Amino acid sequence: MRFQIKTGKPEKQRCKVAVVPVFDSGVLGAVGKSIDKLSGKSISAVLKAGDISGKQGEMLLLTETGDLPASRILLVGVGKRDDFDRIEYRKIIRAVAMKLAGKPYTDALLYLAADGVANAGGYRAARIAAETWVHQSYKFALPGAKKAPAPALKTVNIFVDAKHAKAAKQGIRDGAGVGTGMNFMRDLGNTPSNYCTPSYLVKQARSLARSEKKLTTQVLNEADMKKLGMGSLLSVTAGSAEPAKFIIMQYQGAAKSQRPVVIVGKGITFDTGGISLKPPAAMDEMKYDMSGAASAFGVMRAVIEIGLKINLTVLVPTCENMPSSTATKPGDIVTSMSGQTIEILNTDAEGRLILCDALTYAQRFNPAAVIDVATLTGACVIALGKYRMGLMANSDELAKQLLDAGENADDLAWRLPLDKHYDNQLKSNFADMANIGGRDAGTITAGCFLARFTKDVDWAHLDIAGVAYQGGARKGSTGRPVQLLVEYLLNR
Ligand code: BES
Ligand code: MN
Ligand code: ZN
Repeated sequence: MRFQIKTGKPEKQRCKVAVVPVFDSGVLGAVGKSIDKLSGKSISAVLKAGDISGKQGEMLLLTETGDLPASRILLVGVGKRDDFDRIEYRKIIRAVAMKLAGKPYTDALLYLAADGVANAGGYRAARIAAETWVHQSYKFALPGAKKAPAPALKTVNIFVDAKHAKAAKQGIRDGAGVGTGMNFMRDLGNTPSNYCTPSYLVKQARSLARSEKKLTTQVLNEADMKKLGMGSLLSVTAGSAEPAKFIIMQYQGAAKSQRPVVIVGKGITFDTGGISLKPPAAMDEMKYDMSGAASAFGVMRAVIEIGLKINLTVLVPTCENMPSSTATKPGDIVTSMSGQTIEILNTDAEGRLILCDALTYAQRFNPAAVIDVATLTGACVIALGKYRMGLMANSDELAKQLLDAGENADDLAWRLPLDKHYDNQLKSNFADMANIGGRDAGTITAGCFLARFTKDVDWAHLDIAGVAYQGGARKGSTGRPVQLLVEYLLNR
């Protein structure tokens, strides 16, 4: 799929299908009116006849286009003009992409943004169109399976006023990059754990590095991790036959002297809970417990597509959490790479155990900021549901940058506190800390645990347990929080 920006006279554009918005009560915007004129009033005719009224979601395909150099007109109801905000705009782009998916048209021209989207200038309108279109076109296939035949639609053109053309071009580049990154995340997330193992993630990292000169990949095996003293990470993989891996991806898009942003993604390719075994209901969804890692891969992919001039390092500690005779048992005490000891009271609180060693390792990159991303706690789903992710940070500035990025990218987060009071819940009689803090404030105590390993850097933690995937009938990875993270990087 290719995206292009078109400017000029709206009624002079040659295309297979022109997508024109109709506002509530059959009102046309300025662009719609000029198209209507050259189409021999074919739009006015169907409005008058009541075939379409402009209610959100309505669609009508016109084959009579008069002197308009468009073969078809797809009228799209977009509702009340004042309500036509970014969220509604996204919905409409999705619906149009779906509508055109099976059609033989090789190109489309969208006039949806030209008549105005609230809170979206030329850049944002183009970016949302490209991002949403790419996201909507996603289809899952098992690794190695035959790819579905390519759709007829090859080019999506987006019409904007000439004064917005430059910004809009940037918008489609960033939007297509973000969409591609999100789909990469979704592929990794949706791929079941019998395919998507730590070694499979290593393969993905290597092939990403082959595609881009600025990216180098390095992988630590269990012996390397042992040498580094990553006793906490290794305790999680103790019960699994699949070897644990530690993936390091370094993208150098700016001068070497520029400190990198480090993103750390939780890569539990399946979380059974270990000896503290999870109940069976919906346990299949624990294949998504590597969504933090998948989002980090997605961000890297987007950064490559966009060609961002930044330095980005992605760290992925990855393993399975399995019960077996060699598995870590409740009460076991392990020593983390930082030297701090941890009493493992619940083997299902494994995410923080792999992240803490990765966070210690992250500090050797002299990072400008460290952001970890993890499906860390069920408590976060209880607290914030599936709309906003949890955000915790030891830096107000970094927290604000990430919250703002989420607002601007429609990928929302909400900050939770990390007061000493909560940290006290991690006290252990036998080690420097326990790996759980009791039932109260489970998301926050998990954050407090990680904070103990990030004292010397600006650090933020995103708990994406509620937002990274959907369950039930619409089961699947969402691609979040790739949008928020890329937005943050774009703003740097
Ligand atoms: N991967 C889970 C968190 C999770 C739960 C993600 C539900 C998505 C949906 C994590 O490893 C876990 O099991 N956390 C425990 C922590 C508890 C033992 C302190 C949890 O949330 O129950
Ligand atoms: Mn767990
Ligand atoms: Zn987990």
